[in-house]
Amino acid sequence: MSDTTTLEINGKKHEFPLITGTENEVAIDIKSLRADTNGVITLDSGYKNTGSCKSAITFLDGEKGILRYRGYSIEELAEKADFLEVAYLLIFGELPTKEQNEKFHNDIKAQSLVDDDIRKIVDAFPKSAHPMGIISSLTSALTAFNPSSVNVNSEADMYNSVVRILGKFPVLVSWTLRKKQGLPLDYGDKQLGYVENILKMMFQEPNACYVQNNILVDTLDKLLILHADHEQNCSTSTVRIVGSSHAGLFASLSAGISALWGPLHGGANQAVLEMLEAIKEDGGDTKKYMAKAKDKNDPFRLMGFGHRVYKNFDPRAKILKKAADEVLGNLGIEDPILEIAKGLEKEALEDKYFVDRKLYPNVDFYSGIIYRAMGIPTDMFTVMFALGRLPGWIAQWREMRLNKEPIGRPRQLYIGATERSFTPVEER
Ligand code: CMC
Repeated sequence: MSDTTTLEINGKKHEFPLITGTENEVAIDIKSLRADTNGVITLDSGYKNTGSCKSAITFLDGEKGILRYRGYSIEELAEKADFLEVAYLLIFGELPTKEQNEKFHNDIKAQSLVDDDIRKIVDAFPKSAHPMGIISSLTSALTAFNPSSVNVNSEADMYNSVVRILGKFPVLVSWTLRKKQGLPLDYGDKQLGYVENILKMMFQEPNACYVQNNILVDTLDKLLILHADHEQNCSTSTVRIVGSSHAGLFASLSAGISALWGPLHGGANQAVLEMLEAIKEDGGDTKKYMAKAKDKNDPFRLMGFGHRVYKNFDPRAKILKKAADEVLGNLGIEDPILEIAKGLEKEALEDKYFVDRKLYPNVDFYSGIIYRAMGIPTDMFTVMFALGRLPGWIAQWREMRLNKEPIGRPRQLYIGATERSFTPVEER
């Protein structure tokens, strides 16, 4: 393949370099476009064709249904690795050695206390507050309690900010849940593994001895790994663009959490469960909801279906469908919602509308069913997604800073009024 491409505008030819990635994807480098063409820009709503950066973290082939973190397939990592190993891999580029793994875990544990004044902020939220609003605010508030995390000018500063947030975020997640449930806020147990401790902090009752359930530990570990990164999605792009102004890590993460909240992104896991519940309440007629999803005059969409990049099975959904069966079986739970989900999936996969548009189940289609089986309330599902995505956001933020990327600042094509003069209010 040639290493340049030519664009002709008003009869004048302009040449641009073609850049090839390690997986042979090709990009046109249009850095010089505006200067060379006297002000012409590209227009790409939703960035469907625009690469915002070069990245060495996650590879995704939406046509083939491939997802790899730093070269390792998601299937292999979900089966063999634990969440903190995957976090280290994403953030620092390689799987940790035994010593690095131990140090990483210990450094995170050493940072797992949250300033007790943060309780006062938690207390100030009404019980009705959505957990995503709480967790995004608390993450931002962490900056005030850890001001040194803002100016990260060395690898050491960066490492400290990384272990701080990985240590404190699970505490905030558990406090968000416990506040909603009216339970006392807890700090967990430093002796436990990372994921074990998350479950204990979430579920320990003040009047009972906590008994660890290994099925839940393994399941949560897998869920967190599957959510850990997904290259330049809406929330990750938000983290990178906020961080590109040199805002601190915690402020950038808080913005990413807000972006994740929406039902077209991470909020879909809550929306899927609510949709399945509604179908069940309505008598389980999946055909009725399929028809609604296809009706262009009806705003209803089949939540948990479709993806901007995957035009084939989302590999995470494949793993989670199997996991849902296993977990519910192991926990002895029979959930009619799982049957409705399977029925809906079968119908959609055979339906011309969905086939033509290449709409397959995505990661959110089965995750909510598993979270529900684990005893996690529906409005906490997206918080669990954020907990999993944390290492990915951190890795992408760190890469952006280390690559010294310029501040993110897109252009626009102005289509508003041309110059006009002001009319005083009495004359309008
Ligand atoms: N139900 C019904 N129709 C759909 C759906 C759906 N879930 N998703 C897409 N379509 C249709 C859409 O109406 C359009 O049809 P037409 O070509 O006739 O206008 C076509 O498929 C293409 O859709 P699009 O909205 O242009 O695609 P997009 O890439 O902009 O949006 C999406 C991707 C994920 C926002 C969208 O598929 C969607 O809204 N899905 C439901 C929400 C969801 O499950 N989100 C979770 C995404 S995965 C987790 C994550 O990474 O956040």
